[in-house]
Amino acid sequence: MFRGSAKKRAVRIAFMSNKSLAKSPDNTTVLLTGGAGFIGSHTCVELLNSGYRVVIVDDLSNSCQAAIKRIRTITQVNDDRLVFYRANILDREALTTIFSENNLDAIIHFAGFKAVGESTQKPLEYYHNNITGTLVLCDVARSFGVKNIVFSSSATVYGTPEFIPITEMCPKHEPTNPYGQTKSMLENILTDLYKGDPQWNVVLLRYFNPIGAHESGLIGEDPKGIPNNLVPYIAQVAVGKLPALKVFGNDYETPDGTGVRDYIHVVDLARGHVRALEWMAGKCGSESIEGKALGAFHGAPQPDGTRSGVGIFNLGTGKGSSVLDVIHAFSAACGHDIPYTFEPRRPGDIAENYAACDLAACELGWHARYDLLKMCEDSWKWQSLNPEGYNDPQDTLDEQGGLGNSGTAGATRTVSATSSRPTTNVSSSTTFVSSSSSHHADGRSDSTDELAELAAPEAMPRIQKIVLIAAVIIIVVAVLYYNLKLSR
Ligand SMILES: NC(=O)c1ccc[n+]([C@@H]2O[C@H](COP(=O)([O-])OP(=O)(O)OC[C@H]3O[C@@H](n4cnc5c(N)ncnc54)[C@H](O)[C@@H]3O)[C@@H](O)[C@H]2O)c1
Repeated sequence: MFRGSAKKRAVRIAFMSNKSLAKSPDNTTVLLTGGAGFIGSHTCVELLNSGYRVVIVDDLSNSCQAAIKRIRTITQVNDDRLVFYRANILDREALTTIFSENNLDAIIHFAGFKAVGESTQKPLEYYHNNITGTLVLCDVARSFGVKNIVFSSSATVYGTPEFIPITEMCPKHEPTNPYGQTKSMLENILTDLYKGDPQWNVVLLRYFNPIGAHESGLIGEDPKGIPNNLVPYIAQVAVGKLPALKVFGNDYETPDGTGVRDYIHVVDLARGHVRALEWMAGKCGSESIEGKALGAFHGAPQPDGTRSGVGIFNLGTGKGSSVLDVIHAFSAACGHDIPYTFEPRRPGDIAENYAACDLAACELGWHARYDLLKMCEDSWKWQSLNPEGYNDPQDTLDEQGGLGNSGTAGATRTVSATSSRPTTNVSSSTTFVSSSSSHHADGRSDSTDELAELAAPEAMPRIQKIVLIAAVIIIVVAVLYYNLKLSR
C-alpha cells in the first residue's frame, strides 16, 4: 500500500499526461518489443521507410540478432534511427534504462510466446511472459508518460466465431488454450488501463494468418525446429527439408473439402501498424468509432488532435483460401509439386474462418495489397535463399563479433541488468520450450488453426543422426568382438 508522499507520487505518475503523437514521423520514436521476430522485423522496415525512429527490445528467445542487420540492409538505415537492445521485457530495470536512454513516444508490443500447443503444456511460462511482461512494460511506460500502445492481438479471441466473415462486432469467446487466454486477457487489461486513465491511447490489432516474407528475401519467418504453421511447413517440404505435408480434414463443407483461412502477407500486416500509429495521432479516420467495433471506446478529443481510447481492428484480406489453394499457389511459386496426404480432421478445428476488414479500410485507410500467389512467392524466396533461416555462417559471425560497421555497432546495446535478473530463468526455459515445441503433436502456433501440419519423422538434426549411427556401429562391433573372443 502507498503511504504519504509515495502515494502522491504513484497518483502523479499514474495520471502523468501522455506523450503527444502530433508530430512528424522523424520526430517520433517507436519502441518495438519483440521487434527482431517475424512480424516485428517487417514492421520495423515499414516504420523506418515511413521516416519513424525505432528502438527494438527483444531477448532473442525466438529470433536472431542477424534480423537487425538485415533490416539495416533493406532500409539503408545505418545510424541510430534504429537502436537494438537485447533485453527481456520482464526485466523492469532494463526497461527503465531503455526508456531513460530514449525519448520514446509510442509502443508496438509484439513480444510474447505464441505456440498454441506449447502453451497448454507450459501455461505458467506463457502467462508469466505474456501477461506479466505486458504489465511491467505498461507500468514502466506510464512512469515515462508513454501511454500510446498498439498490441498484437489475434483472431483467436473470437474462438468459434458466431458469424463469417468476422467483423469486430463479433463477440469474443472463451479461448481454448492459455495462449489465446493471454491475448484475450491482455485486450481486457489494456482496455481497463484506458477506463482507469483516459489518457491511454490503445489499438488492439487482431491478426488473421500472417505469412510471406519481405520481397528482398532477407527477412522472413524463421521457426525453431519443425514449423507449426502451414506455410513455413510447406516451404520446408518444398526445399526438401521435410518429406510431406499432412492435411487434416478433406470433408469440410468448403469448396474443396479442406479448411479455409484468411492469409495475409506480413508486409501488408506491417503496413497496418504504421497506419494504426497514424490513426492514434489523429492523422486519419473519423471523429468517433464508438458503436462501430464492439468494445471500442473513444475518449474525449485531445487538444492536439490525437486520440485516446481503445480502437479494435481486424487485419486480414477478407478472403478465405483453402489448404489446397495454398498448396497449389506454393507449387506455382516454387515450380514443383508439394507432396501431401489427407488425414482425419483434428478436434477443435473449424471449417472456415476469415475476416471482414471494412473498419480498417475506412478508419485506417488500409487494405491488404498482396494476393496468395505473392505471399507464396515471397515465402519461397526467403526459404530458398535461407534454407537454414538466419543461421548461416555470416550471421553467426555477425552475432559473435557485433554488427560489423561503426554505425550499426553504435546502435546495438545490451542491457546488462537482463542477464543477472531472475528472469533469466524464464528466458532460458523459453529457449528450451521453443525448440522442444517442434515435437508436440499439436504444437500449433497462433495462425495455425490452419488445417495442415507436420509429418513428424524427419525431426532429428543431421549431427545427432551421425552420432547415433556411429554409436550403433561401435556397439555392434564390440558385441561381435566379444562373442568372437568367447567362442575361442
Ligand atoms: N505469427 C502469427 O501467426 C500471429 C498471429 C496473431 C498474433 N500474433 C502475435 O504477434 C506477435 C508477434 O508474432 P511473431 O509471429 O512475430 O512471433 P515471433 O516469435 O517471431 O516474435 C516475437 C518476438 O518476441 C520476442 N520475445 C518473446 N518474449 C519476450 C520477452 N519477454 N522479452 C523480450 N522479447 C521477447 C521473441 O524473441 C521474438 O523475437 C506475438 O505477440 C504473437 O502472439 C502472431
